[in-house]
Amino acid sequence: MKTINYGIVGTGYFGAELGRILRTLDGAAVVAVYDPENGKTIAEEFGCKCEDSLEALVSEPDIDAVIVATPNYLHKEPVIKAAEHKKHVFCEKPIALSYQDCDEMVKAAEKNGVIFMAGHIMNFFHGVRLAKKFIQEGKIGKLLYAHSARNGWEEQQPEISWKKIRAKSGGHLYHHIHELDCIQFIMGPATEATMIGGNVAHKGEHFGDEDDLLLLSLEFGNNTFALIEYGSAFHYPEHYVLIQGTEGFIRIDMCNTGMTVKTKDGKIEHYTTHATKELDEERTHIYHSTEMDGAIQYGHPGKKPPMWLQSVMNNEMRYFNGIMHGDPIPEEFKPLMTGEAARAAIATADAATRSRMEDRKVKISEITGEV
Ligand SMILES: NC(=O)c1ccc[n+]([C@@H]2O[C@H](COP(=O)([O-])OP(=O)(O)OC[C@H]3O[C@@H](n4cnc5c(N)ncnc54)[C@H](O)[C@@H]3O)[C@@H](O)[C@H]2O)c1
Repeated sequence: MKTINYGIVGTGYFGAELGRILRTLDGAAVVAVYDPENGKTIAEEFGCKCEDSLEALVSEPDIDAVIVATPNYLHKEPVIKAAEHKKHVFCEKPIALSYQDCDEMVKAAEKNGVIFMAGHIMNFFHGVRLAKKFIQEGKIGKLLYAHSARNGWEEQQPEISWKKIRAKSGGHLYHHIHELDCIQFIMGPATEATMIGGNVAHKGEHFGDEDDLLLLSLEFGNNTFALIEYGSAFHYPEHYVLIQGTEGFIRIDMCNTGMTVKTKDGKIEHYTTHATKELDEERTHIYHSTEMDGAIQYGHPGKKPPMWLQSVMNNEMRYFNGIMHGDPIPEEFKPLMTGEAARAAIATADAATRSRMEDRKVKISEITGEV
């Protein structure tokens, strides 16, 4: 089997773990990293090259694919440079913080004929895979409505991470694009967005500047709708995606972790959200412990992701490595592998943001220019 050589840009919490996982896969090697702060430590751990610039990493002739796991506002340059050097790219979510930037990234990958996979990890959740299958089988009838909440309460942190700064992370809606992307993966792309909200309880020097309460309503143009709540101003923690159909429902819970399905014959079925009961229990435990910060367990360089997350990262890297080895891309994953699904999620997020700024409903076509 041919070995695919990977380079990683950004080896903090997530990039380092993606690299550790790649190193366990058949036909995969991490040959170089670039990260001005943490590159050296991870290069020593991996026994690989520590490049001293992005240019050096992307122009390394041995590298077949580049993993981009820098802070959100620093994804665009490495993605475009890697594509221009004909490297395939896996980029963490959100791929960028504006439709315009996403569009340039998607076009760079397309022009250079490379794969551009986005780190939309929910696509690889056991529960989401099952939900897609059940919907296809007609188990809950025609889809009508999706509701998601990713809500918790943020306490003061010892220091303010880039993840809490709007210009760097995009704030809750962009940083946690997962739920919006997951709903579009299931319902198709939204056509109109309306959003209200603001920073209602976390102002001041001890907090970042993101909005802590966002309520987003989406229309899909075919009598289907969605509501998504995001934020860190909710003392009652909730984290789920609920899909309602004409004949039943599917509820994937990520807080009291588990999945419930009501099928058209009226039966209630229970499944796990993640691959095993043990992983679900671990996630539930984390949610109800003190480690959470506003519906998020924030990572930082040197910290290890929990088991449930490692297990999904494993599915995701295994999938990407398989594609690098020539596995066919099924129809439902094509938009994920070109950056188009990620760009569509940001188009909707941009429409929602404009809606809040201009106090009106915004068509997604206003953002994409497609009329
Ligand atoms: N899919 C998920 O569930 C998930 C979870 C966590 C993080 N992420 C994403 O992964 C990315 C990284 O997040 P993280 O939690 O690892 O953050 P982090 O702060 O732990 O790591 C970021 C790393 O990037 C490095 N860096 C900064 N500027 C750089 C540059 N110009 N070039 C190269 N390296 C640079 C930093 O030194 C740091 O080591 C983000 O896009 C984040 O949204 C995804």
